Amino acid sequence: VKVVKPVVEIEEEGDELDGFSNKVTVFFGTQTGTAEGFAKALAEEAKSRYEKVLFKIVDLDNYAADDETYQLKLKKENFAIFMLATYGDGEPTDNAARFYKFLTEGGEERGSWLSEMTYGIFGLGNRQYEHFNKVAMVVDEELEKQGAKRLVPCGAGDDDQCIEDDFTAWREQLWPELDTLLRNEDDVVLASTPYTAAVSEYRVVFHENPVKLLEGSFSATMENGGSVVVDMNHPCRAIVAVQRELHTPLSDRSCTHLEFDVAGTGLSYETGDHVGVYAENCHDVVEEAAQLLGHSLDTVFSLHIESEDGSSLAGNLLPPFPTPCTLRTALARYADLQTPPRKAVLGVLAAYASDPAQAERLKHLASPQGKVFSHTNSCNLLFGLWPESDRPHFQRSLFDMDEAEEAGDECSWAPIFVRQSNFKLPANSTTPIVMIGPGTGLAPFRGFLQERAALQASGETLGPAVLFFGCRNRKQDFIYEEELKEYVKKETLSSLYVAFSREGSTKEYVQNKMMEKAVDMWKLISDGAYLYVCGDAKGMARDVHRTLHTIVKQEVRS
Ligand code: 2AM
Repeated sequence: VKVVKPVVEIEEEGDELDGFSNKVTVFFGTQTGTAEGFAKALAEEAKSRYEKVLFKIVDLDNYAADDETYQLKLKKENFAIFMLATYGDGEPTDNAARFYKFLTEGGEERGSWLSEMTYGIFGLGNRQYEHFNKVAMVVDEELEKQGAKRLVPCGAGDDDQCIEDDFTAWREQLWPELDTLLRNEDDVVLASTPYTAAVSEYRVVFHENPVKLLEGSFSATMENGGSVVVDMNHPCRAIVAVQRELHTPLSDRSCTHLEFDVAGTGLSYETGDHVGVYAENCHDVVEEAAQLLGHSLDTVFSLHIESEDGSSLAGNLLPPFPTPCTLRTALARYADLQTPPRKAVLGVLAAYASDPAQAERLKHLASPQGKVFSHTNSCNLLFGLWPESDRPHFQRSLFDMDEAEEAGDECSWAPIFVRQSNFKLPANSTTPIVMIGPGTGLAPFRGFLQERAALQASGETLGPAVLFFGCRNRKQDFIYEEELKEYVKKETLSSLYVAFSREGSTKEYVQNKMMEKAVDMWKLISDGAYLYVCGDAKGMARDVHRTLHTIVKQEVRS
């Protein structure tokens, strides 16, 4: 039975073309701002190539409120370019989630409804992950299935190498194709220019006299009909209720356990979700940056998008953070001082370098040949200059897959948000589970164990749960040792296997323990166990995957 959706009439938008010959919509699905930066850069370059073409940059989330609107609006798009990042376990970014769901579900029923559309996709991903650029590839496939015409092969940007070079290479394929469709007779023929970041220059006002400082408005918003929305762009302020070091004093490393008090914040989460924590840059780095800028940390300044006579400075949106504030706040909270800048930013910085040799060096680093990153400090960094290709950086906390960063100075609160994950316990609590989580990869499994303990307390029957944990040395970094042993005692956890990598003469890893328990592993897998792996995706997850293959092959034969 074919379900025919009623056609909803929406008001025609005004004459959008407004004198332009064509319109191209550049959609982006972004998590940390890279895809958004690429979309802006692409549109900028396109504007200089095709004078009569209107380029619109669109956040996929803001495009349509519901499926019907997606359908009505997309049908009318003749030229669409998508910049789509893939996140985590092959998932779309938060702002592309609704679009992705709409496009991938029920596409067959819609037939060739996108026959008017010509499209191009550039994917942003990381080859270290199993589902490399999955979102871009799936959207590419679906758009074609649903009738759209592919203009160029889907680009597969790899952030493990240099994604900007991939983007440059993809654009070189794109322009000749777009030229044939969009170029007017009087458009000048341009060679592809290197990718440059959209950098906005703001007017800076220094405040000598006291002003009211805006030290960040970390408040969740009231959207979606009055309920509180907490997301990456609207973190909420949460009190740090517990902060303690997890490594013993014998360890030369640190791992911090943080608990946030979310009472009254409106924030909700489920077991297995991630919490994002906006951490401050540490003091030494902030101080060094201020010295390079040649200003004291107490300098109070504000950023303005309009020039002194009130006219708007071209190309500027809102300032990147709330001001007036001190330089200390700006550098500690909003500037990414630790990540090597992207090539596009280096290219822009070259224009501000006072030493010509350093300017050349920066230009070289920004070119496709540039590979190494070296420190430079002759740049006359201007206060008003803020690259737009990265949103304010944040460090994910221990509850995520990454190694936790050193917490640094004592802090009493932090802006946080929750990101949903698909790391969930089986719906049926009797289904067996196998958890593999060395180091901070243990984090979601603590959540699982807490949930199992609660289920146990409410009288539910639990299936077996096995945990493989790995660390360097029992006396240094066996984090949550007592807690885990307590779970074993109470049978919340059926078996705990720990691999110590730096105790004996040979390394012992979680996968060695798995091999030792091959027979049990195969029994659990045959019984339909859910398998979870959390931690370093580069080495550990791959090796564990290989070991699982070996176990299955070996046990099927025997
Ligand atoms: P190592 O640092 O001594 O090599 C948590 O980080 C634990 O994971 C450490 O004991 C670490 O050991 C170990 N580890 C490092 N690489 C691994 C890999 N490829 N597979 C499994 N465990 C690994």
